[in-house]
Amino acid sequence: MFLWGTATASYQIEGAVAEDGRGPSVWDTFSHTPHKVRDGHTGDVACDHYHRYAEDVALMAGLGVDAYRFSIAWPRVLPTGRGRVNQAGLDFYDRLVDALHEKGITPVPTLFHWDLPQALEDEGGWLDRDTSRYFADYAAVVADRLADRVSMWITLNEPFVHMVYGYALGMHAPGRTLMLGALPTAHHQLLGHGLATQALRAAGARHVLITNNCTPVWPASGSEQDLAAAEAYDILHNRLFNDPVLTGAYPDLSAYGVELPVKTGDLETIAQPLDGLGVNYYMPTRISGPGGGDLPFEFEPISGHPVTAFGWPVVPGGLRELLGSLTARYGDALPPVYVTENGCSYDGLDDQERIAYLDGHIRAMREADADVRGYFVWSLLDNFEWAEGYHQRFGLVHVDFETLRRTPKASYHWFADFLKAQSTDT
Ligand code: NOJ
Repeated sequence: MFLWGTATASYQIEGAVAEDGRGPSVWDTFSHTPHKVRDGHTGDVACDHYHRYAEDVALMAGLGVDAYRFSIAWPRVLPTGRGRVNQAGLDFYDRLVDALHEKGITPVPTLFHWDLPQALEDEGGWLDRDTSRYFADYAAVVADRLADRVSMWITLNEPFVHMVYGYALGMHAPGRTLMLGALPTAHHQLLGHGLATQALRAAGARHVLITNNCTPVWPASGSEQDLAAAEAYDILHNRLFNDPVLTGAYPDLSAYGVELPVKTGDLETIAQPLDGLGVNYYMPTRISGPGGGDLPFEFEPISGHPVTAFGWPVVPGGLRELLGSLTARYGDALPPVYVTENGCSYDGLDDQERIAYLDGHIRAMREADADVRGYFVWSLLDNFEWAEGYHQRFGLVHVDFETLRRTPKASYHWFADFLKAQSTDT
């Protein structure tokens, strides 16, 4: 059965950051550091989903989605990242999962959507190999509580974006600016994925996925330099995270002159068989080369397409291209694909552009040469868009961040009608 859903993430919607024993995460620290997030916005209250989850589940039921992708806040479950388990934190997800089942909605939790417990960051975060092991221990704790009612799990969300924005460029928490020195966080996150997959399976999880942010890479011209630069960028953005998981080998990183801290047996651990590959798609990337400094590529603008309020080009055909290229590249090694995020930022309640965006991308997905089994709109609600604070609105539902009132947008009603038509078609 194809899964239609919506997606969110803990720090972006929950609020209640100091409630029921939750420990601080790197995003609490980062958002409270002056000048890191636009206008000093923080996730302290966000959509207050922690208290209003029942209303949000009712909104999902009104949409008629099959599934809901949310993330679990590691520091709610283990306030210092390891050791003492906070049952009150687990209770929240327990209530949420039950509320979803009551409405016939399949829960699809993601275990790590960037809110690392601050105590683990203080010990090195994802630069430290031990974090992989603590992640698996955390996965085991969560699965022990929820695996009787949750069959589909996602380990990591977008480890590429976390590595680049969090550890290389400092635009996201934890705000490190290590440039290529951030690369070990790719390996440690992936090792954490492999170990967590083993822990989830041991607890009876039936479907385990990883979610990678993927982009079609377009060389700016047919010149040898641009082609080489595009290949180097494809390696960093796409293959570094997909190859080891699907084929058990890293791509050639010689263009970056960096070696990953791989130990014997790590690649076998990372390449655990998966039941699906989660793919988040927003836009293609255009590349020329070589870049200045240490990087073998440079970014080029994409013109000739509409742009979202975020300034991102709207290229539905990029999703068809991406899905087809995954099939072509990995063949039988590619498990079924789930589009675990796709969506756009626009203002206003009569969001016809969002409707056009979603319609275009769903059509492109259906035309793709790939075994696609799910599609999740990012996002159910307007929420805390990381370094942009509350300025970018990705929701099908508008949130007034003063009153926390939820108002379905035109796109919500459009998606509800679309879903109704799917269920009468099949
Ligand atoms: C992907 C991330 O997973 C999500 O947290 C973010 O809000 C969206 N992209 C939009 O930028």
